[in-house]
Amino acid sequence: MSFDVYKIRNHFPILRDKIYGKPLVYLDNGATTQKPLPVIECINAIHRHGNSSIHRGVHYLSDQATDAYEKARQIVQQFIHAKHSHEIIFTSGTTASINGLAFSFGERYIHEGDEIIITEMEHHANIVPWQMLCERKNTKLKVIPFNDDGILQLDEMEKMINKKTRLVAVIHASNTLATINPVKSIVSLAHKYNIPVIIDGAQSVPHIPIDVQEMDCDFFVFSGHKMYGPTGIGILYGKEKWLSDMPPFQGGGEMVDVVTFEKTTYNQLPYKFEAGTMNYVGAIGLGRAVEFILSAGQENIIRHEHDLLKYAVGRLDELGYITLYGRAPEKTSIVSFNIWDVHPYDAGMVLDKMGIAVRTGTHCAQTVMQHYGIEGNIRASFALYNTSEEIDYMVEGIKKVKSMFSG
Ligand code: ALA
Repeated sequence: MSFDVYKIRNHFPILRDKIYGKPLVYLDNGATTQKPLPVIECINAIHRHGNSSIHRGVHYLSDQATDAYEKARQIVQQFIHAKHSHEIIFTSGTTASINGLAFSFGERYIHEGDEIIITEMEHHANIVPWQMLCERKNTKLKVIPFNDDGILQLDEMEKMINKKTRLVAVIHASNTLATINPVKSIVSLAHKYNIPVIIDGAQSVPHIPIDVQEMDCDFFVFSGHKMYGPTGIGILYGKEKWLSDMPPFQGGGEMVDVVTFEKTTYNQLPYKFEAGTMNYVGAIGLGRAVEFILSAGQENIIRHEHDLLKYAVGRLDELGYITLYGRAPEKTSIVSFNIWDVHPYDAGMVLDKMGIAVRTGTHCAQTVMQHYGIEGNIRASFALYNTSEEIDYMVEGIKKVKSMFSG
């Protein structure tokens, strides 16, 4: 299927908006992506004609909503190539999925004196829940370092593994350095020692095809809103053998089988992990976002975003006063940089006045900034609807910033 970025842009009404009278140049897709019409219209249609709580009633609307919700689960299952649809748990997002795992997996399998391995390039959601677990259980966190190019030092990982290692939790694609980590090798190394692996796919799923069976990871988590879907919905994928043994992380609603004051037994998978009134609107919208990605073509997305990345790196490098963070050979479409002698917030404010949305600061990855000894940086993260003209405009903005702040 041919890919025409200008046709793709027509699906995103917000991209026609003006900010301070200037066309919006939206380059903050790592934080959240804009929504295409099929997703917007799907959510609108549910609220207008299809709204009803799922798994609750025998009435028509409840049945319709339940069917659509379960169909969305199958769409996600096929999208990430999970073996069973009951291995797909809807959550409110990546952060909720990891916190749920830290509680549920942590309660069942992690004990005093155990060790958990993460990496130096995690965002806070894959650090803090593990630190909280470590405090609760008196366990230890070990951190695989990365080098200055943003490449994980995997030889260090093997040295860290010992009899006390219970879990490895790794970001698939860094939200700051853009590095795509070799998760298959990480999983096979961990599995050599029978250690399960969680992969945080929040920044990989929008950009590259995912096959959890081929990856052989034990858990895989991601968010809807970073992949053209609604906010407040995300996925926790887990292999059946783990999910069926793990305790629920929230109580109430549909997660029960029989409730008495003496004892409660739990529902089967996946419902055991879906307490309360689930975000069925978000889940159905996420299913629609998956269909949108598939209709655009994942190969087209890879090619287009790779071209954007290459173009942006070239344009930034030729300026001669940019420090770029992250030069791994395998990257998603993010450039993370500083303009010499300019504070990132100053740059962000000037770019904003030009209608350009970039993220400035630490991007919820303070430990990455600590690696480079910087307070923060500027991040432009590209999506399938961005163009090389937008990158040119950003570079014009950077030149303006440089002349304003450092002469
Ligand atoms: N949501 C955070 C980001 O912008 C982690 O990358």
